[in-house]
Amino acid sequence: MKNKIILTKIFQKEAVDILKKDYDLIIVEGSGKDLKTTLKNNPDTEVIISFLSDKIDRDIIEISDNLKIISNYAVGYNNIDFIFARDSGIFVTNTPDVLTAATADLTMALILGVSRRIVESDKYMRSGKFKGWGANLLLGRELGGLTLGIIGLGKIGLATALRARAFGINIAYYSNNRKPDLEKKFDFEYMELEELIKNSDIISPHIPYSDDVHHLFNKNTFEKMKDNAIFINVSRGGIMNESHLADALESKKLFGAGLDVFEFEPRVNDRLNKLDNVIMVPHIGSATYTARLGMANIVIKNIKQVFSGKVPENLIPEHNVLKS
Ligand code: DGY
Repeated sequence: MKNKIILTKIFQKEAVDILKKDYDLIIVEGSGKDLKTTLKNNPDTEVIISFLSDKIDRDIIEISDNLKIISNYAVGYNNIDFIFARDSGIFVTNTPDVLTAATADLTMALILGVSRRIVESDKYMRSGKFKGWGANLLLGRELGGLTLGIIGLGKIGLATALRARAFGINIAYYSNNRKPDLEKKFDFEYMELEELIKNSDIISPHIPYSDDVHHLFNKNTFEKMKDNAIFINVSRGGIMNESHLADALESKKLFGAGLDVFEFEPRVNDRLNKLDNVIMVPHIGSATYTARLGMANIVIKNIKQVFSGKVPENLIPEHNVLKS
């Protein structure tokens, strides 16, 4: 008998084909049923392949007594009650590394897009407003010499910093763990969070979401930021109060914002829709063919490792207690 796997959504065809061949694969998306019902109907399920938009809470985790691994197709895993899963003896894995470049590229794209008003300019063209070159037409912010404040200098934060460097941007960072080697090697400046917020021209958090950082960016934070600063968020929507961000953009306290994630995803605060100084993209941080296939391959690799009696390679850090 083949091991039973529930895949909540369709992902890369190559990966679906492998899963179909090797396992008893049930796909929730398009089945007309939700994950809970599917699990109840299949209590012998050993694997859930989940996505960041799936809420895998205690109620879901408890349904199957046979669950061995929840393999999340994302680097972030705040959609899962991972502590409950871990304490119930279920592995939780994520997909790091393969999406670092894609996400850092998108961060740079948003920085460039906001600073040079690319989307606004495109709309201007399409609406037939362009009547000729103008010395004051759609002026933006020049990046060279600005300071990019990175919060969380993990892999994506670092990859973003190195890309920004190529544009002559100075890098400051705040992180729970200071990284003296990187400071020395790349001339990054460490700042305490408050100092970073006050002194950066561009701020880009690259941190996992947890209750501790809920609404880290709120009215107070936006007020402390430099006038004309740029706010970028490719991490998780919950770290910002979207309505307070809309205030800061409407009042032009901020020059602009670039958002890949939203507080109430997929819903967006309607005030943002009306603003020209924000660029919004639909959570496409890792959306390159290379990254997404890499993520799917990691998901499969971890599942195979579990079925061959191994500890999966991409356990989330909260499992470290198991590894040591
Ligand atoms: C992730 O993997 O957590 C990213 O948000 C995907 O874009």
